[in-house]
Amino acid sequence: MILVTGGAGYIGSHTVILLIEAGYDIVIFDNFSNASLTAHQRVEQIVGETIPLVKGDIRNKEDLEKLFTDYDINSVIHFAGLKAVGESVEQPLKYYDNNVVGTLTLCEVMQAHGCKSIIFSSSATVYGDPETTPITEDFPLSATNPYGRSKLMIEEILRDLYVSDPTWQVILLRYFNPVGAHISGDIGEDPSGIPNNLMPFIAQTAVGKRESLSVFGDDYDTIDGTGVRDYIHVMDLAEGHVKALNILHTIGKVMTINLGTGKGYSVLEMIKAFEDASGKKVPYHIAPRRAGDIATCYADAQYAKNVLGWSATRGIEVMCIDTWRWQSQNPNGYKEN
Ligand code: NAD
Ligand code: WQD
Repeated sequence: MILVTGGAGYIGSHTVILLIEAGYDIVIFDNFSNASLTAHQRVEQIVGETIPLVKGDIRNKEDLEKLFTDYDINSVIHFAGLKAVGESVEQPLKYYDNNVVGTLTLCEVMQAHGCKSIIFSSSATVYGDPETTPITEDFPLSATNPYGRSKLMIEEILRDLYVSDPTWQVILLRYFNPVGAHISGDIGEDPSGIPNNLMPFIAQTAVGKRESLSVFGDDYDTIDGTGVRDYIHVMDLAEGHVKALNILHTIGKVMTINLGTGKGYSVLEMIKAFEDASGKKVPYHIAPRRAGDIATCYADAQYAKNVLGWSATRGIEVMCIDTWRWQSQNPNGYKEN
């Protein structure tokens, strides 16, 4: 059985659908600090079956002990974590506790139960401000904020664990910028409060919940001066996890894999694509650069293709159409409309 920590969240809920469709037995473990039970119920509707869900915290050893006793878990896909960069600067201890201590506790309980196979949600943020693009997995690593450092620390912890005991099987997946939603429009990204990330902010502006999008800087050395990122459809990302799970038990080393499309789009290109997909105007204004932002970030996606036989198939148009379907059908996210 596969344990999916954080399986009620944005990327987790989409991945759960594909895991079930691929025939995997799974159990979800989530503390609902950034998730809604409605999302889980909709996933169950989509797949047409009940999916075991346990409410608990990865920092709580007793919760995890009970989980590993009640379920026969042989692999873990570990999504659970906090992810807001700005909040991590203001509350670093909360991030180190939740992400690093939580992962340590999870690994301890896994080890005690003889479960040593893990796929970890890392991030392109571990490349810091790369000197060139596209970014390959062997680029130097650095972090500019506590969130990013928590990801780097966890990567190192998992590498150390493997060195100490090579029967561990570890895949570190470094996601670029996940966007989009399931094709049903029933599940999607539902940030609490004002969105930090570009795509949810664009979508909420298009649907009329926000007046105007602040474009953070138009003087970067990019195609039109605005920041360039590698946006990847969440269903492509989910497929990448299923592929990674398929090889997890055959790898003889810690594998580190970029999950991106290999293409970069600017903020203005994203706005235009979203307007085309939705038929709505996205009012915007140019604002100062956001602290900590970099000009350009996109993946070299070749390694994923080589080792997983995976590459993203959904382009920017589908990313926008699917985001819009979710946003327009659920203007208030999972809250009652
Ligand atoms: P999300 O917040 O939607 O999902 C995370 C889930 O983990 C939530 O359901 C939350 O309730 C749960 N959770 C958090 N702390 C927990 C704890 N202590 N115990 C149990 N459950 C806990 O975020 P997401 O976008 O789905 O991201 C999933 C993972 O991918 C995270 O680790 C994130 O850092 C990483 N990641 C996300 C992005 C992105 O832009 N979305 C990019 C790169 C990496
Ligand atoms: C994208 C572009 C902004 C909002 C973050 C994390 C990273 C990873 C993914 C988890 C940038 C611009 C944004 C807005 C804007 N998460 N922008 N107006 O910063 O690439 O990555 O999410 O691991 O760690 O740092 O994503 O969506 O915030 O920004 O102009 O209101 O959009 O400046 O160029 P980012 P983003």
